[in-house]
Amino acid sequence: MQHLISLEGMARERLHALLDRAQHFAGLDPRAAPPTSLAGVHVVNLFFEPSTRTRLSFEIAAHRLGAQVVNFDAERSSTLKGETLADTFRTVEAMGAQLFVVRHSESGACEMLSELAGDGTHIVNAGEGRAAHPTQGLLDMLTIRQFAKRPFEDLSIAIVGDIRHSRVARSDLHALRALGCGDIRVCAPAALLPDADELQGCRVVDAADEAVSGCDVLMTLRLQRERMEDGLVDSLDGYYRDYGIDQRRLSLARADAFVMHPGPMNRGVEIESAVADGPRSAILRQVANGVAVRMAVMEALAG
Ligand code: NCD
Repeated sequence: MQHLISLEGMARERLHALLDRAQHFAGLDPRAAPPTSLAGVHVVNLFFEPSTRTRLSFEIAAHRLGAQVVNFDAERSSTLKGETLADTFRTVEAMGAQLFVVRHSESGACEMLSELAGDGTHIVNAGEGRAAHPTQGLLDMLTIRQFAKRPFEDLSIAIVGDIRHSRVARSDLHALRALGCGDIRVCAPAALLPDADELQGCRVVDAADEAVSGCDVLMTLRLQRERMEDGLVDSLDGYYRDYGIDQRRLSLARADAFVMHPGPMNRGVEIESAVADGPRSAILRQVANGVAVRMAVMEALAG
């Protein structure tokens, strides 16, 4: 594996192998002598969109593997003088950086860079457009493997919220299908559902109460207003009433069900604070798993 652009088409065995390695890293004491599999490697965080957890967790993961990390600040770069993404990439590659962690607003940006990249250069997609966010998909699968009481085949997973604009949901769906998840329910207002061809293997459920009923895993998503044309959602109060995850709605899920959210959260819009911070929230475990998964991915590419 030279690059990680998408989870689409990734074999189940490879997914589980990456998750096994991430589980190993998750169990290490961060203060113990660090692994050195990325010693001598320069990792460049090339982020053209805002990020908190993804960028910082890639940075911590790279440090924990012994890599050198360089952060590119798009707001203070020659991007503002009109330099293209391709030229920016070629420039930093010429300095000897080997691993590029890329976040960009355009779907296809990472694929384009992977075609330009030399043999020893690796591209990791850290979220592009609506298309894919493969390391988020992996950390979500690791979290499900840790929390769920049953194998993927026997799980009912409800994904509620702005699926149309979500690269996280797309990568989760790629992974859930590959892992053989038996029951995937998707629920959103019609304007926030993706096209039908993206929902193969899923059951569209109109009412959130029905989607949540008896599920094992409840994933909610941020209402992504920056990627949305105006008017797709009439009112935030109405959205919260119909699709928000509050304690009443959560009580319809299985007693051992847990709640996931990729962050950042809009509290009171897609999730109630009492749920986000409550005993059935897996949200901070998702964050912690982000470091372990990114270690596993970077080691697989450049270790
Ligand atoms: C997501 C993203 O940027 O795609 N956040 C993340 O990486 N954890 C989800 C979002 O922005 O809603």
